[in-house]
Amino acid sequence: TTEQNEEQYRPQVHFTPDSMWMNDPNGMVYYDGEYHLFYQYYPDSTIWGPMHWGHAISTDLVHWDRMPVALYPDSLGWIFSGSAVADVANTSGLGTSENPPLVAIYTYHNPELERSGSDTFQYQGVAYSIDKGRSWTKYEHNPVLPNPGIRDFRDPKVFWHEASESWMMILAVQNHVSIYSSPNLIDWTFESDFGEGIGAHGGVWECPDLFPMQAGDTTKWVMLVSINPGGPNGGSATQYFVGDFDGHVFTPEGIKTKWVDYGKDNYAGVTWSNVPGEDGRRLFMGWLNNWQYANQIPTGKWRGAMTVARELELVEVYNDYLLVSKPVDELQNLRGVEEQLNPETISGEMEIKKAFELPLEINLHFDTKNSSTITFAERFGIALSNENNEKLLIGYDNLNKLFFIDRTNAGWDSLNKDFAGIHYAPYINNDPILDMHLIIDRASVELFAKGGLVVMTEQFFPTQPFTSISLFSEHGEVSLSEGKIWPLGSIWNK
Ligand code: FRU
Repeated sequence: TTEQNEEQYRPQVHFTPDSMWMNDPNGMVYYDGEYHLFYQYYPDSTIWGPMHWGHAISTDLVHWDRMPVALYPDSLGWIFSGSAVADVANTSGLGTSENPPLVAIYTYHNPELERSGSDTFQYQGVAYSIDKGRSWTKYEHNPVLPNPGIRDFRDPKVFWHEASESWMMILAVQNHVSIYSSPNLIDWTFESDFGEGIGAHGGVWECPDLFPMQAGDTTKWVMLVSINPGGPNGGSATQYFVGDFDGHVFTPEGIKTKWVDYGKDNYAGVTWSNVPGEDGRRLFMGWLNNWQYANQIPTGKWRGAMTVARELELVEVYNDYLLVSKPVDELQNLRGVEEQLNPETISGEMEIKKAFELPLEINLHFDTKNSSTITFAERFGIALSNENNEKLLIGYDNLNKLFFIDRTNAGWDSLNKDFAGIHYAPYINNDPILDMHLIIDRASVELFAKGGLVVMTEQFFPTQPFTSISLFSEHGEVSLSEGKIWPLGSIWNK
């Protein structure tokens, strides 16, 4: 709608609720031509509170129709994060074989039990829909998985495990995950724990996911685990493990901690269930925010956005398996007329665009084969600036061999010491062409570097819109071998 184009910080290519508070993406499932996105939602305030599941539907993962609230709190508690599956064989008996149900499995958070001092205030419940997700009925004998006496016991991600022909649930339990199995989504049996003594433990484990991926001829299992705090640049972030899963136990390969995204603003992301296609694309979306300041960011009548939908791939690099993230191909349908930059040597600052409007998509290739010579830049990249001398820098630090996003002086920082600053990501491989693919919306940037091996997602809130984009090269030069810019249309204009 026009109104959404006028709001200063309203993302134009990212999902946001029309108004009020949103956090984690939940229950992502594909069914009958539609991608469903549910999300942690508080319809009465722009700060976190009693959780509901908001809902949106898309046929292309780009344009979203906002739907009525799907799940409301009830006598068992608030509706925390969880997942949804298409129970096509009606194993749950909650639909019929002609009209199988969509089943949501989520955490009940019971605030009264919590206040009473009990540790058993989180347990898992089920709801189902037999009308393509339009209306939901809670299962009458909830909870399906009671609390065993542990304070943090939440965020079930459920999937069908082909080899053992049963449902699996991966659940976040304080400092580890637990895996359960079930024939019918109702009766759950404990299988195993994973996580103590491995991975990052700077905070509580939340919102796990577990799924198979092909890397060449090999099938590996990838486990995502969000942690808060303890991310590589502070606060919330999502780590992952690669290994094997036999239907009972997950066995990791290697002990190095890996991150889905090194930026400060991609949390609680998980993948879609039941995606069509021969093996199905592995589609991911995260919450474009960080608990360090999520309740304070200066957006308008809403608070919280999602990342763009991304396709994940698994590749083998230096005898290690790494995730690659890319915006889904469908996003290219928003592109306007392509503009090409001339290959040239950059030293100092070179304006490449003024009088533009965000969002933009930008693709840059820098040639780094001379990066060890003394004339080579110490830092280079792309800068957005406005008339208030606010600046956002996205680039590569050649002295430290790290990518960075510098939002030290990019506008709003709310006196929150955790927002401003320079944030870093490793380079990963030594390919001489350093590529940076950027999706820049009105209040966020997603950097996919090295073909998507390195990802950084960050928000920014300049006091006035950015009006100039330049390429920069500090203390030396760098050559731009290729550059392309596309204006992106708004997902709210139909
Ligand atoms: C992650 C999280 C989840 C929880 C939800 C509550 O951001 O803390 O663990 O289910 O948010 O809104």
